[in-house]
Amino acid sequence: MTEEKVNKKRIYSAIQPSGQLTLGNYLGALRNFPKLQSDYDCVYCIANMHSLTVRQEPAELKERIYSLLALYLACGLDPQKNVLYLQSHVHEHAELAWILNCYTYNGELSRMTQFKDKSSKHADNINAGLFTYPVLMAADILLYQSDFVPIGQDQKQHLELSRDIADRFNRLYGKTFVIPNPLLSRQGAKIMSLQDPDKKMSKSDTNTSNFVLIVEDPSSIIKKFKKAVTDSGSEVRYDEENKPGISNLINIYAAVTDKNVIEVEHEFENARYGEFKAAVGEAVVSALTPVRERYAQLMQDKGYLDEVLKDGRMKASEIASVTLKDVYEKVGFVV
Ligand code: TYM
Repeated sequence: MTEEKVNKKRIYSAIQPSGQLTLGNYLGALRNFPKLQSDYDCVYCIANMHSLTVRQEPAELKERIYSLLALYLACGLDPQKNVLYLQSHVHEHAELAWILNCYTYNGELSRMTQFKDKSSKHADNINAGLFTYPVLMAADILLYQSDFVPIGQDQKQHLELSRDIADRFNRLYGKTFVIPNPLLSRQGAKIMSLQDPDKKMSKSDTNTSNFVLIVEDPSSIIKKFKKAVTDSGSEVRYDEENKPGISNLINIYAAVTDKNVIEVEHEFENARYGEFKAAVGEAVVSALTPVRERYAQLMQDKGYLDEVLKDGRMKASEIASVTLKDVYEKVGFVV
């Protein structure tokens, strides 16, 4: 364990560079990261190896890696206080994933809802990586002896599997891994599609009206919120079952303005849907504008981004190598 880890609990999370990030990624994950940087020892990864489970255009993937790093920084992550690194730069991920594959059952993997979803969306490419994806995610988390993992609701099942794998390994070989806990944000954990609020907002959605990007042009954001699907009735009231559209917009507004649902209902007690949708759009634009501006500046300076990656690679490798060595010794490899 590193010296810092002795005093502080460790936070670990990762995002895939497999598309431009949406408001869902921002509210469910990214926005929460900088709030943790003073009190925890934080490690954030760009999960490019996970991205290969779906076909990627190489030049685009490379650009999106820089783009995700720039977003990490633009949201306020200080590279002096956090480890920011690229998954493929630290070979221990692939190595531990192999070991953990041998301690994970097919039955467990076939129950993963994301695997079922992605297999139906990419029926022509149901590759083995898509199936063992959660094992690589477990390797990510467990290599860093992570105490808490800030994620959106959709990753909770994967985190639970990581806990089961860690526990199984610990029982067999003695305490090796810290058992990680999920950290879910109060309002932003499950942001839904703007046109189809029964499904989550996703960066891989083919209908661009369904999502808002973190770096999207403000006028386009306002337009998308004006067009967002609402429900029958006219009251701005939270009711996920009968009013999924309005409830999603209430969640978004609450998350970006740091209010709770009751406060939002109260604020828009006498408002019509149209007025409320315009207010949500404006609130989202004001939350995202500083991020978009800082992002644009950072993307001009690839040299700086490369330096951050180089430093992150060194720091991440230092932590990961200690865990992998311990695992290799425990399973009986000659190290
Ligand atoms: P990814 O890249 O799909 O999403 C990144 C983060 O954004 C959250 N998220 C959402 N939150 C709220 N509402 C939404 N509509 C929404 N869409 C996405 C996700 O829950 C996630 O926290 N497997 C992970 C990446 C990963 C990882 C890890 C995460 C790889 N290794 C280790 C944590 C720890 C993924 O695909 O997230």
